[in-house]
Amino acid sequence: MRILMSAPELAPFVKVGGLADVVGGLPKTLEAMGHEVRVVCPLYGCVTRDASFTRHEKPLRVYLGGGVVYEAPIWETVLPGSQVAVYFIEYDAYFGRQEVYDGAWGSHEDNDLRYAFLCRATIDLCYHLDWIPEIIHAHDWPTALIPVMLKTQEGGRPLEKTATVLTVHNLQHQGMHHERVLEFAGLPRWLFVQEYLEAMGAVNFLKGGLKMADRITTVSHTYAKEIQAPEYGFGLDDVLRARAADLTGIVNGIDLVTCNPEADPLLPFHFSAHDLSGKLRCKQALQEAFDLQVNLEVPIFSAIARLFWQKGLDVFVDVADSFLDKVPAQIVLIGSGEPELEEQFRQLALRHKGRVAVLIGYKPQLVHITQAGSNFFVMPSRFEPCGLTQLYAMRYGSLPIVRETGGLVDTVQSYNPKTQTGTGLHFRDLTHDSLLHTLLWAASLYLEHPKAYAKLQHAAMIQDFSWKVPAKAYEEVYKEVLGLRGR
Ligand code: GLC
Repeated sequence: MRILMSAPELAPFVKVGGLADVVGGLPKTLEAMGHEVRVVCPLYGCVTRDASFTRHEKPLRVYLGGGVVYEAPIWETVLPGSQVAVYFIEYDAYFGRQEVYDGAWGSHEDNDLRYAFLCRATIDLCYHLDWIPEIIHAHDWPTALIPVMLKTQEGGRPLEKTATVLTVHNLQHQGMHHERVLEFAGLPRWLFVQEYLEAMGAVNFLKGGLKMADRITTVSHTYAKEIQAPEYGFGLDDVLRARAADLTGIVNGIDLVTCNPEADPLLPFHFSAHDLSGKLRCKQALQEAFDLQVNLEVPIFSAIARLFWQKGLDVFVDVADSFLDKVPAQIVLIGSGEPELEEQFRQLALRHKGRVAVLIGYKPQLVHITQAGSNFFVMPSRFEPCGLTQLYAMRYGSLPIVRETGGLVDTVQSYNPKTQTGTGLHFRDLTHDSLLHTLLWAASLYLEHPKAYAKLQHAAMIQDFSWKVPAKAYEEVYKEVLGLRGR
């Protein structure tokens, strides 16, 4: 099959969240299965063009509303370690700035134009390349107008038969914009009704995509169910319920080559499920790197996340004092986001010098050492479509402590003391009591039941989270959608 992926982020070139890792990983496995996959993404100011980038002689012509045509140079490269062609669209007025979605003062005000442009550019790229894909696979709201454009603008043209798959990585972000974008994108006014793009007086990109994509996927089975109910539906649960038959949950994979404690170049010492001595040395390296008391007996609890409401770490910081009063444990936090929460974590570290370390920001090497050196990984998300960091944590032998939601349920098996099985610890409600209780339970597992802890750690490390299974599931979806359209 010929498959074109269009996405606002793409690892390793530009990453804000897990979506980038998915779009950087899945195409390689699909290619290895024999498909021809290409990827398109904006050339943001922060993307470094190395020697592998070549510029197409002719610029792409992007056909917008009112007969306006924009010319945009195309830069071509490949996804590292594969033959997957990647096309970066250069249009500095929209993408030249460093930040992807938001600058210092909040969301970029022209995100509607920027991403409507990306959607139209994705379609026009096919004509530019003279390559007609059977599937266009869009990711999240920034590319969600692609199905809408295909259905309303491509009638009688070569892309008319191209099928669309839209993956929802996070339903909270929907791209709600002023109706001016319709004219800009050359979309008909009649779309601006509740039945199609309108929601609460705005043009809702994601809603349009959910209405018009041939198939919808999201990144775990549980999240696929959750978003069909009001609690997790962010106002679109009715739209998703109406399309339940076309909605599939597929749990993300991870790249086992780069995420490998036996060979990770960012780790000072290596280890495996069968020989954990390197992990202990990483623990010491972690304590030294963060000025924590060097003590290999105490459990280290880490959290690495964007400091947003979604991630639930406000509750973690609230219970941390009581937790540290009750057990000899250490905490490492890496992340940035809401200024108030950043400050609360900074204060926590000041109150517990030598026991709590906080890095506001993101340093890849320290992230890897933290995953490798800690014993538990705390992820109390209010909602979590899939979550990737808990998968990385398990690979590196840190047991995730997760709230029972979304992909966390699907990927982490809760500890059962009777059978001594599991790959982490679950709790249900995000309350202070239940998080504190679960943290204490984890500490006692480590301190008082080391054999059980070791069993869980081993089980976590040998889980298969590769792209093989999810890529097969995507292939099924593609096949189904093509069959469907053939009929
Ligand atoms: C978003 C979700 C996260 C998911 C990722 C990749 O960042 O919040 O749960 O793992 O997308 O699909």
